[in-house]
Parts: sequence; structure tokens; C-alpha cells
Amino acid sequence: MSDISSFITQISQSLNQQTFVKLSLGKPRQKLDDLKKIMIKVVQIKGQAHLSFTYRATRNDTVKNYLYEVGINQVKQLLQTSFFHANLFTTQHDYQAMISKKGSVRIIKSKPTFTERPSQEHDRTKKRPIKQTANYLQQLGILTKDGKVKHDKQAKFRQINKYIEIIANLLKEQTLSTPFKVADMGAGKGYLTFALYDYLVNTLKIDAHIKGIEIRADLVEKCNHIAQTCGFNNLQFVEGSIDNYASEELDMLIALHACDTATDQAIYQGIQGKASFIICAPCCHKQIRKQLKKEPQELAFILKHGILQERQSEMLTDGLRALLMETKGYQTKIFEFISNEHTSKNLMIVGKKGTIQTTKQNQLNQEIQRIKQQFNIQEHALEALIKTAR
Ligand SMILES: C[S@@+](CC[C@H](N)C(=O)[O-])C[C@H]1O[C@@H](n2cnc3c(N)ncnc32)[C@H](O)[C@@H]1O
Repeated sequence: MSDISSFITQISQSLNQQTFVKLSLGKPRQKLDDLKKIMIKVVQIKGQAHLSFTYRATRNDTVKNYLYEVGINQVKQLLQTSFFHANLFTTQHDYQAMISKKGSVRIIKSKPTFTERPSQEHDRTKKRPIKQTANYLQQLGILTKDGKVKHDKQAKFRQINKYIEIIANLLKEQTLSTPFKVADMGAGKGYLTFALYDYLVNTLKIDAHIKGIEIRADLVEKCNHIAQTCGFNNLQFVEGSIDNYASEELDMLIALHACDTATDQAIYQGIQGKASFIICAPCCHKQIRKQLKKEPQELAFILKHGILQERQSEMLTDGLRALLMETKGYQTKIFEFISNEHTSKNLMIVGKKGTIQTTKQNQLNQEIQRIKQQFNIQEHALEALIKTAR
């Protein structure tokens, strides 16, 4: 057994010997405490080394930077009062400290996960796709007047950046049509629509024309006003419902967090519009859930739990959405959009248009029927929409 001081000494030594990689404090002592975790790294501020603490709470992150001595004292205090666990990564060893309620400390030393020190560049200089000076971000209430991300909008700002990163990767090395026509279905407050327009027009220098389709007139009016004041001439918000929206040729279809079958209607609009890219982040999967029985029998032990049945319906709905898109020649990927901490609606389905041969299409259709039968699904909303178009 050791005590906290010996762990603190390891931290000091690793900083002095420049082997420190990062440190995290976890397992809060108070279960109800809003502070979940603290991540600590070294940053250089005005040429002086600091410990940068990212305090991760349920809804947002706060960052504070301390000179080494103050930071190390903070760590000691936090381990005595607020956290049971700490993980120190150095280029020589990893150390895991586990503190008991009575204050005894167990330290496990293991091989280093990292053999190189990370960049000590401060976050402010970290390259993010979204420029923090953008006027629309202020008008949408993400930034304060002096260009700082508002306290309660940190997670949203990270989400917007992540979303643009995903699109940037998707568009990399692609030849894009001019004008590049995008429809964002269920655009809501327009955070992501504006960010995409800004990225395409001002960063990629593409002649992008974006339409945000939104059922709520108040949001449409507000977003159109902001688009005008920002000089985003080819960004337009249109009041209307996704299902009534007259299909038009598109290069990219986006639907982020469009409820339940609104996602299917949006995907269908993308297919009809021959969009080269379809990007959606589904939310609430009620349509399939209503049809599911606790079947197949082998899964009864899972499906007797409501939450797991809900997960099953999400997986089946989205898995079938991807297969249905594949029948239309899209190569699909499903992945986590952003960590669960920020939103539970965190899956993204991305489809990139290619071609498909009839034999492959028939195989996929048979596979879809087999899955539906196995899980007792009478109808999938996207399949029904595709059928009506035949
Ligand atoms: C959860 S919000 C998501 C907003 C935005 N896409 C985002 O991710 O930040 C869903 C939006 O879709 C709109 N919506 C829902 N059903 C719709 C429909 N059938 N047609 C058009 N808009 C719809 C809602 O009014 C709401 O603003």
C-alpha cells in the first residue's frame, strides 16, 4: 500500500523529467456530483508550461490552466476529496491509483500506453473546421459578443465541429458538382445548416446552394433573417413538411435528428433526388418498435427488458435503412457521431451513391424479407416509400 503523496511524487517526477503524457481523475466520490471526470494535460501558454484541467460535467466542459505547482496541489486535494481513481500516463509507465474510502492507496504500474509525448499546443490554436469568429455563431447564440463559446453551448459547438469534420472527410478527393445542391430536412434552429454552408462556401470555396426544410414557421423566419444578415445568399430556409416536399435533384441530403419516420421520408427524398451523399442521424425509432414481438425466442432473455427491446428496434430500423439504401446503390456506413455523453441520438448513417447490379439488388431484397420475417416486421417505413415509387 502507498499513500497519495507517492502518487503525487510520480506526477511531479514525470513533469520534471518530461515523460508526462496525461492524467485523468475519475470515479467521483459523490455519486450525485455533476463533475464526472477531470482530464489533465500539459499546455504551453505564453512560453510557460501549465497543467490544463478539463472538468467534464454532465452537460458541459470547463477548462482551467494552472502553473505546475498549483496544478499538482489541486490534484492532491481532488484525490483527497472528490475522486477515487486516477490514471497517470507517462512515456515510461502507466500508473493507476485506486483510493479506498478509508484513504489507503493502491498503485498499479504497467507498460506505457504512449511512448511519445503529445503536442503541447494550446487548444486555442488547435485547428477546428469552424472558425470561432463567424458572425452566424453569435447570432445563433453559440458565441458571446466577444467570440467565446457560451458555457452552455460547449457541447453544441463540439457537435457542430464534429459534424463538419465528418462531412469534410466524406467530400475529400471527390469531384463536386457546381452548384452543389444540399437539402437539410428538419433543419431546426439551423446550427448545422449554417455551419455546413460556411464550410462549403467559405472554406472549400464551392458554389453551394443549401435549403433547410423545416415545419416550424418561427424557426424558418429566424434562420432566413440570420442568413440574410450574414450575406449567406444561397442559404434558404423553407417552411414545409419533409413528406410533402417536392423531390428535386440533389447532391447531398442531410437529416439530423428528424423524428421517427421523418428520417425515412428524408432518406427517400435523397434517393429520389439522386443525391450523391445521404447523411442522417436518426432519432426515436417508434415505427418498428410497435411491430416487434419478443422474438426470436433465442433473444427472449434480452427482449424481456424494455430498454433492450428499444435498442433492438433502433438497430433493426437503422440496419434495414442501410440495407434499403444499398438496394439503391448506396455504399453505407453506420457509426457513432459524437460521444453518448452529449446526446443519446448519436448514430450516423452515411450513404455514398454508386451503382448496383440487378442480381445484387435481388439478393439484398431477399435478405431484407428474411430479416423482416425473422423479427416479425410487417412494414419498414423506408421500404414502403421505396415501393410506392416503383
Ligand atoms: C430535433 S430537431 C433537429 C434539428 C437539427 N437538424 C439539428 O440536428 O440540430 C428536429 C427538427 O425537425 C423538425 N421536423 C420534424 N418533423 C418534420 C417534418 N415532417 N418536416 C419538416 N420538419 C420536421 C422539427 O420541427 C425540429 O425543428
